[in-house]
Amino acid sequence: MAYYFDEPSRTFNEYLLVPGYSPSTCVPAAVSLKTPLVRYRKGEEECPISLNIPMISAIMQAVSDDGMAVALATEGGMSFVYGSQSIESQAAMVARVKDYKAGFVTSDANLSPDMTLAQVVELKEKLGHSTMPVTEDGTATGKLLGVVTERDYRLSRMSLDEKVADFMTPREKLIVAPVSTSLKVANDIIWDHKLNSLPIVDENDHLVSLVFRKDYDSHKSNPNEMLDSHKRYMVGAGINTRDYAERIPALVEAGVDVLCIDSSEGYSDWQKFTIEWVREHYGNTVKIGAGNVVDAEGFRFLADAGADFIKVGIGGGSICITRETKGIGRGQATATIEVAAARDAYFKETGVYVPICSDGGIVYDHHISLALAMGSDFVMLGRYFARFDESPSNKVMVNGSYMKEYWGEGSARARNWQRYDLGGDKKGMTFEEGVDSYVPYAGALKDGVALTLSKVRSTMCNCGALTIDELQDKAKLTIVSSTSIVEGGAHDVLLKDKTPYVSNTGH
Ligand code: XMP
Repeated sequence: MAYYFDEPSRTFNEYLLVPGYSPSTCVPAAVSLKTPLVRYRKGEEECPISLNIPMISAIMQAVSDDGMAVALATEGGMSFVYGSQSIESQAAMVARVKDYKAGFVTSDANLSPDMTLAQVVELKEKLGHSTMPVTEDGTATGKLLGVVTERDYRLSRMSLDEKVADFMTPREKLIVAPVSTSLKVANDIIWDHKLNSLPIVDENDHLVSLVFRKDYDSHKSNPNEMLDSHKRYMVGAGINTRDYAERIPALVEAGVDVLCIDSSEGYSDWQKFTIEWVREHYGNTVKIGAGNVVDAEGFRFLADAGADFIKVGIGGGSICITRETKGIGRGQATATIEVAAARDAYFKETGVYVPICSDGGIVYDHHISLALAMGSDFVMLGRYFARFDESPSNKVMVNGSYMKEYWGEGSARARNWQRYDLGGDKKGMTFEEGVDSYVPYAGALKDGVALTLSKVRSTMCNCGALTIDELQDKAKLTIVSSTSIVEGGAHDVLLKDKTPYVSNTGH
């Protein structure tokens, strides 16, 4: 006979946190958001990889490429580069994150000596850069011949046909540094010589990168950066249960830090086989998350299979239509609460703590606090990150407002059939499980994440918690009625920005 869950499954919007006692020491600045990413023997050893903030970006074409990975690692989280692309291009994205030297910028505005002032002006307008290196062949890695900055030309006094070679600051007048230069030394050179930028060159005088004065300062102001033991940014990658034997070695070779099986439904032999393959070939040196599951049974299965972390959530994502198309899923809050309880029971029984991640359905910032309070160790977000400058999707104007494109991995646009694969010979999709959409553009990731986390820290202090562990321990959650949801927003007032203004002097 079929099994019935007695209680209705609930979403984050149906819960609130009841404040707890806040000691005077519990201030937002003292809150630590550090949280374990992979399994470990809690209480006996340090978690081998912890996130500095409890946020990871979704394994999606519209969300997680190398640009997003660098931006999020800078803030202390981690991206999982999407797997619905060729093995080569995914591995190249991972390699670019690992090669990325914070503060060392590969020049994307390069000139050749025979270009004209008109072309310089055009490039400056297009890319907005005021420093452009001149190389023999006009590439980012050509032999360095000089640099053009705004100080090298005066539009009012020069012909637009003038050649770059005639007005650039030539190589012999430039201060440059070798590739072995550390960021600290590069910064000292910049300061000592009052420079705005410093070209880094190899032994053949070919350009390698540029260091800018402003970037060094911002690098220093990122105390949460997710760095590996070689001080490189950390990055994850999504894999599937079909081509793992080819994809994983390429990703490992590229330097990936953590893998995650990307699947709409994780309680399956295919996930177990994939984890077993990893253990057989790499032991515990390669970390691999799995999912998604929505109940204790699914968690137990993947924990026993050896998953390093387990993702929770089916059909709650903003672009998901799995519940509509297949009738599969569970309210995200209920799923998180049940899986967290299973995770705690597993820890009690085995001494092994397997972190869980609530994936999808985070709409408001306070949903992150709720997910953490319900027992999630960190959250995965798609829509949230898709809105920022750093996501790979297009920024477009729709009805007078800027939007970013955002599409599901189960949409016809992404064609990620491996994510929905149930084995057998069949390859490809017969129906969609996701939509193609727009989300309101939200500017720079750094600003958005800072604002979100300031709210999370504030909520944690209301609950008297200085760590996520403490929040999970102390949180008091209450279910809200539909009428109290109305009470929770502004009500029975006329909002000023929605009301025509009439001054009391009649003007
Ligand atoms: P949010 O709400 O953050 O959700 O936008 C992101 C999560 O949604 C999942 N995902 C999908 N689920 N059809 C689905 O049913 C899809 O096309 C789809 N694409 C992504 C995924 O777990 C992601 O992290």
